[in-house]
Amino acid sequence: MMSIRHNVSLSELNTLKLKGQASAFAAFNSLESLIELQRSARELNLPLRVLGGGSNILLAEHVNALVVQSSAETINLVHEDDAYAWVDVDAGVDWHQWVCCSNQYGYGLENLALIPGLVGASPVQNIGAYGVEAGELIEHVVGYQLSTKQLRILTASECRFSYRQSVFKRELKNDFVILRVRFRLHQTFSPNLTYAPLDTLDRDGLTSDALIQAVVGVRNSKLPDPAVNPNAGSFFHNPIVSETLALTLRKQNPAMPQYPQVVGVKLAAGWLIDQCGYKGKAIGPVSMYEKQALVLTTKEGATLAHVRTLQKAVQHSVYSRFGVWLEPEPQVFE
Ligand code: EPU
Repeated sequence: MMSIRHNVSLSELNTLKLKGQASAFAAFNSLESLIELQRSARELNLPLRVLGGGSNILLAEHVNALVVQSSAETINLVHEDDAYAWVDVDAGVDWHQWVCCSNQYGYGLENLALIPGLVGASPVQNIGAYGVEAGELIEHVVGYQLSTKQLRILTASECRFSYRQSVFKRELKNDFVILRVRFRLHQTFSPNLTYAPLDTLDRDGLTSDALIQAVVGVRNSKLPDPAVNPNAGSFFHNPIVSETLALTLRKQNPAMPQYPQVVGVKLAAGWLIDQCGYKGKAIGPVSMYEKQALVLTTKEGATLAHVRTLQKAVQHSVYSRFGVWLEPEPQVFE
């Protein structure tokens, strides 16, 4: 029997440390225990909600659900050939810990070091940094579909990864519990150093461990430590606008960073927010971080309502100045 606790505070289980309570909470470590919890949720007349590492959610004050979290932490080399190594990693493994030991098996995840959260959440928003996205190294995702009660394996193409997007945030939202992710790592270390400031690293003699350390250094210098300044990484998506709008904006703001995409042009939300004077600005217990305007941080006692107030102020300010509407990256958990 899985142990279910009632009226559980989730404040310590979300990295923004927002105040919030779940009607019920339980950890699970196998498909069997998850199925048992689905049955319990029905008996309790509550929906089932899966929580990952809580690093990309906006916690509501009352979560009327049985909240479940994976505590499975196995890493297993499945198969290898000359080019690749395939490794199964359970949803409950800490993402950064996985990145740090992934090079015992193969290469490719170095640029994604120090991203907070659990492995099970990595495909959901296709986490990315410094020119690499998790989806590029995922072979498939194994999970349980709640509505059909089926164990399913979704190939990378079925996951439909794109910039901070996947099927898990769309059609399968709230309906799919990720149990395990199969990664396909490279046998040869061929680092992606295209993005600043990694482009200043010397490729010769660079090791996978050294690259991981370099990424950790960069992130620590720019991004707040969630243990000190509660945050959820980038708070808004970088908006992708039409080439026409990008050109107009560039004429009015010659210094505006722009990154051409296959379709459209990506703008730096942090730059837009900074220009609007919101860097370091607080409304009540929430503020935009003083060293990176794209990151929202909270102080004790902050709730989703406080976050919404600052979010809206930033959205309206950026919209009235640049005509671009910013969308939040973390998803409401309710
Ligand atoms: N900028 C400013 N002021 C600021 C912040 C940024 O002028 O306050 C400018 C920077 O100088 C730079 C540009 O905006 O010219 C882009 O900034 P940065 O390189 O820091 O990257 P970002 O676009 O803010 C994205 C990801 C991060 C990822 C970094 C590195 C998104 C929404 N964010 O941030 O991902 O770590 O690139 O690859 O795509 C996350 O998603 O949670 C996250 C942290």
